[in-house]
Amino acid sequence: MTRHFLTTADWSREELQALLDDAVALKANPLQSRLGGKSIALVFFNPSLRTRTSFDLGMHQLGGHAIVLQPGAGAWPIEFEDGVVMDGKPEEHVAEAARVLSRYCDAIAVRAFPKFEDWSVDREDHVIRQFARWATVPVINMETITHPCQEMALMMAIQERLGKPDRKKFVLTWTYHPRPLNTAVANSAALISTKFGMDVTLLCPNKDYLLDPRYMDLAAQYAQEQGGSFTVTHDIEEAYTGADVVYAKSWGALPYFGNWDAEKPIRDAHKHFIVDEAKMAMTNDGLFSHCLPMRRNVKATDGVTDSPNSLVIEEAENRLHVQKALMSAII
Ligand code: CP
Repeated sequence: MTRHFLTTADWSREELQALLDDAVALKANPLQSRLGGKSIALVFFNPSLRTRTSFDLGMHQLGGHAIVLQPGAGAWPIEFEDGVVMDGKPEEHVAEAARVLSRYCDAIAVRAFPKFEDWSVDREDHVIRQFARWATVPVINMETITHPCQEMALMMAIQERLGKPDRKKFVLTWTYHPRPLNTAVANSAALISTKFGMDVTLLCPNKDYLLDPRYMDLAAQYAQEQGGSFTVTHDIEEAYTGADVVYAKSWGALPYFGNWDAEKPIRDAHKHFIVDEAKMAMTNDGLFSHCLPMRRNVKATDGVTDSPNSLVIEEAENRLHVQKALMSAII
């Protein structure tokens, strides 16, 4: 049966831990021939440094081959709507693109960010869902409205430093950024931290910055199932006090989707949410991380980013190991 990796919500904690355990083994012994003769299509609708490099190199290190495709820039633009008269820019339909790639490749990985115009549309994750519908091989999410590979790399980094994550305090803090960004990493951080039994605090400027109810509800459900907790605060001191991990991310407020000029003054008024040394001093000698790319001294200070407690480079490295474990498992 084809097993996709669209969101960790489809995978149990035990299944995810098995991937993490294999990632640790792959980190110790990186060059293996597990996927000799196999191939993966990496379909990018948006830019990338880490994701593209780590998937391509990861497949190579396992004896397989990766092909990078950028629809609309070297590959044909793709249509995703059913029953449409294709008299616009797209030259082919996902119904053909996904099935043809499935005949060539053993997996298809897709990066497709939201369009940032209408959250009720973007939250359906239409592009990757259409790939999964038409593909006859596993489809991997390389970031759409969640970023499951990033959350796995984060959890691996946490376990490497802290061991068992259960009941450790994890703070997911909104930070300022000049542009409204995707909620994908924030959604993912909420999912993985609660799924692994942490005491999770979501810190954001006000209720407009809450995540989509789908992820808020899942986080609350996982917290209950795993014996952890999931709370929301807008109070910086309350959030940081006693934190074991501080995870920073910026995102646009969902009620303002497509109306970003109205959101900008609210965002601009919260530049003080930057992760700095004074805030980290309130933590329990807490670890800091961010998915990268990250604007230094906007989201986190140089001092925090470069401190021995910073996981940013370890988390980025772990993308390679967890994705190799994932490709090994589903191909
Ligand atoms: N964190 C992450 O996905 O990085 P890239 O956007 O560079 O792939």
